[in-house]
Amino acid sequence: MTVTEQEIAQAVTALRAGQLVAFPTETVYGLGANASDAAAVRRLFTAKGRPADHPVIVHLLGAAALDQWAAQVPATARQLAEHFWPGPLTLILPRAAHVLDLVTGSQCSVGLRVPDHPVALALLRAFAASAPSGTPSGLVAPSANRFGRISPTRAEHVRAELGSTVAMVLDGGPARVGIESTIIDLSSDQPTLLRPGQISSAAIAEVLGAPLALPDTTGATSTTRAPGSLASHYAPTTPLVLIEPERLLDEVARLSAAGERIVVLARRAAPTGLAGMPWRLAPADASSYARMLYATLRELDAQGATRIVVERVPDDVSWMAVRDRLRRAATDPSGAH
Ligand code: TXA
Ligand code: MG
Repeated sequence: MTVTEQEIAQAVTALRAGQLVAFPTETVYGLGANASDAAAVRRLFTAKGRPADHPVIVHLLGAAALDQWAAQVPATARQLAEHFWPGPLTLILPRAAHVLDLVTGSQCSVGLRVPDHPVALALLRAFAASAPSGTPSGLVAPSANRFGRISPTRAEHVRAELGSTVAMVLDGGPARVGIESTIIDLSSDQPTLLRPGQISSAAIAEVLGAPLALPDTTGATSTTRAPGSLASHYAPTTPLVLIEPERLLDEVARLSAAGERIVVLARRAAPTGLAGMPWRLAPADASSYARMLYATLRELDAQGATRIVVERVPDDVSWMAVRDRLRRAATDPSGAH
C-alpha cells in the first residue's frame, strides 16, 4: 500500500469534518465525502460542478452493509455482490429511508459499490470504525473530475483538476481498470445494464442465469438517470472524432491538408509517410486499452491540437465498454463522422 496509516487517519478526520478526500479505486479516482453529511455532499457537487439531480454512488466496506443502504435487497443483488465484490460493479437498488436526496438525485434508488483497492478499503474500514456503532457508514464518490470531463486515473490528474477544493488526495498509483464500474439496475424486475464496464454483461448474465436488458442509449424510455442519458461525457476539450480503420489514413491526410493540427490514437503504427505526425500507438486488447485510455486522452488534449483523431475499435462485445467511452468522448456522440 502506497498510503500510510497516518494519512488514512487524517483522511477520516477530514471526512468527519465534512471535507472532501480523493482516493484511488481500481476503476478511476473517486472524490469522497461522507454519504450521511448533506453539507459535505453539497460541497462535493459544487467542487465537481455537477447538477444536483445527478445521483452519486455510495461506496461501502463490504456486502454486509447492503441492508443498511437498500430498502430491499433482491437475491440477484446478493448473488452479484458475492461474485463480483469487491470489484468494478455498481448495483442500483431501492434506497433505504435515511439515504439523502442529494445522493439519489431524489430517485427511489441508490447506487452501491464495494471497490477493489487496498487504499479505498483501508479508508472505508477506518471511516466505518469512526462511526457511532450501528449507524450506516459510506462514502459517496463520483469520479474526481469536473462534471463532463475525463475521469482521473492517477492522483496527479485529481490535483491538476480539483486542486484546493480537495482536503487530501490519497495516491494509490495508476488505476488498474481505467474506466468506471459497470452499473446494473436491480431496482425493478428486469436487471438492466446502465453503464458497461470491465465486468461484461455476459459475465453478469451468467451469474444471474438470465439475460440483462441492454442500456437504453436513447434515454427515451429510461426512468433512471445514468450517464447514458447525457449526450457528452468523459470528454476532452479538444474536439475528438472517431474514424473507421479503413478510412483512417485518408481522413488524416484530408484533415492535415485542410490545415488542422491533429493528433492520432490508433491500434496500428503510423505509416512511414506520416513519421512526423503526433501518433499514439494504442494497445491491441480491450483491457489494456481501457487502462491507458483516459490518461492518454488527457495527454493528447494538452498538445494544443485542433482535433484528436481516434481509430474506431472493434465491434465485438469485449470492446463494448471502451466503445461506449469513446462514443461519449467524441464531439458528435453518435460517432457518425
Ligand atoms: O467506477 C466508478 O463507478 C467510479 C469510482 C470512483 O467508484 N465512480 C463513478 O461515479 O464513476 P460517477 O458519479 O462519476 O458516475 C456514477 C454514475 C452517475 O453518472 C449516475 O448516473 C449513476 O452512476 N448512478 C448513481 N446512482 C444512481 C441511481 N440511483 N440510479 C441510476 N444511476 C445512478
Ligand atoms: Mg464521472
